[in-house]
Amino acid sequence: MKISHENPGEQASAMDNYYKFQSKIYDMTRWTFLFGRDEIIKAIPLERNAKIKILEVGCGTGYNTKLLAQTFPNAEIRAYEVAEDMVKLSRKKLSSFGNRVEIVHQPYGTELETQNGHFDACLFSYSLTMINPQWEDLIKQAHKDLKTGGYIAVVDFHDSKRPWFKKHMGNNHVRMDSHLVPLLKNLFSPVVEKVHSVYMGTWQYMMFVGKKTD
Ligand SMILES: C[S@@+](CC[C@H](N)C(=O)[O-])C[C@H]1O[C@@H](n2cnc3c(N)ncnc32)[C@H](O)[C@@H]1O
Repeated sequence: MKISHENPGEQASAMDNYYKFQSKIYDMTRWTFLFGRDEIIKAIPLERNAKIKILEVGCGTGYNTKLLAQTFPNAEIRAYEVAEDMVKLSRKKLSSFGNRVEIVHQPYGTELETQNGHFDACLFSYSLTMINPQWEDLIKQAHKDLKTGGYIAVVDFHDSKRPWFKKHMGNNHVRMDSHLVPLLKNLFSPVVEKVHSVYMGTWQYMMFVGKKTD
């Protein structure tokens, strides 16, 4: 199924539909293939007890959001999520953190200039490869929303040499074309840059942590 995502509303409603069922099996299944999620949070080079502001884009069921809140106990976290069923699950998972964690039910990037320069760190975990074709705009928006000296942290699918696998992932809204790293390196100064191959080379995933220097 090919979906044309001409605008954020269309992309958001594709996600909303996709996760109506997937949300029910998400936490049971994703540990088998969304690799590097714990590691990317540990790789954010900020002081653990600092009073910082963290942005997360595409928080899903809140798996990473919870880890962020535990790893940075004094951080305020704002997490964006478009799929209604995922929002419900993440709000439930994060309720014990109170006002410190806010789950915003809207596509990231629609608030324009209101939060420019606001955040110390921004996490995209397996969201950018599903945000098509707006992924480029969202990386640029994150660059604006970070303070100078802040960090972007990205873990995501990278590429696959197996056409059947790429097609399968495409049918699940995931683009795997090694397309994220060049723009990330262009906008941010790399601190961590890794590509790992998994399941006998079926696919590769990438991890990138970069500092905003301008
Ligand atoms: C593969 S899931 C990853 C969830 C979580 N970050 C994780 O690592 O488990 C991608 C999530 O991004 C969300 N998403 C997609 N496009 C988005 C957008 N434009 N703004 C905010 N969230 C979005 C999807 O609804 C989905 O929950």
